[in-house]
Amino acid sequence: MTTATARPVTPIGIAAALLASVEARLDGVDPDVRADLARARALVAGLDDYVGRCTTPASHDLDALEVRTRAEVWDAGLEQEMLSGHVEGAFLRMLVGMTRARRVLEVGMFTGYSALAMAEALPADGRLVACELDEHAAAVARGAFASATAGALVDVRVGDAAATLCQLADAGEQFDLVFVDADKAGYAGYLDTVLDLDLLAPGGVVAVDNTLLQGEPWAALAPSSNGSAIAAFNARLAADERVEQVLVPLRDGVTLVRRVA
Ligand SMILES: C[S@@+](CC[C@H](N)C(=O)[O-])C[C@H]1O[C@@H](n2cnc3c(N)ncnc32)[C@H](O)[C@@H]1O
Repeated sequence: MTTATARPVTPIGIAAALLASVEARLDGVDPDVRADLARARALVAGLDDYVGRCTTPASHDLDALEVRTRAEVWDAGLEQEMLSGHVEGAFLRMLVGMTRARRVLEVGMFTGYSALAMAEALPADGRLVACELDEHAAAVARGAFASATAGALVDVRVGDAAATLCQLADAGEQFDLVFVDADKAGYAGYLDTVLDLDLLAPGGVVAVDNTLLQGEPWAALAPSSNGSAIAAFNARLAADERVEQVLVPLRDGVTLVRRVA
């Protein structure tokens, strides 16, 4: 299925749109310059499609959830572009399988695409706790989980994730994999809570989404509040001696974090 979005929301997608816009305004320019620009645009514009074609297709349940999400009318700051999608879903599913995670925590579920993708790699006794603030998004997710093969493994917690994380810690819960994908200004607090309140099981991994934030941390003319929050989070993480991390330039960036032994 196509995963095309209404507007580009990744550094590569934004660069491809800019190059196409410049290319459309090149009347009268040296043909060699136009050819170089066309080549640059082809390299950038074709990357996401190629990566998608080389990645295991999404399940029918995930495709159905994506179609359903795109058909909804969103407000309250939510939009269909929030959905992570095919390649990131496959990456997260691979991460669950590779780490043999049995307990997964998601901070920021939206309509449940990444939650369901990760749940698909869990064993039958596995469990994924998904935190979501918005009732509408949570209702769409619950509807999709009800008819999805792995949906029964997802435990949806509606409310502010900061409070939910404290409740989980009070209950002595621990997770092998934590995926952080909620409000960008909250990222530093979520990571601190996960580490300080021992929500991360020994050997566990935290995956943090949107750490490239549309290229804003290094190339914004006027960074948005989200761009500034991610730039500050990335700088803080780079100086955090509790952990080691790698920023994987997949889609809008996913940073993998684990405690230093
Ligand atoms: C980028 S979307 C998540 C996308 C989702 N992981 C996926 O792959 O489809 C971010 C979500 O975080 C939620 N969110 C924002 N602030 C939150 C908070 N304080 N607690 C819980 N969820 C929050 C938003 O309502 C939104 O649905």
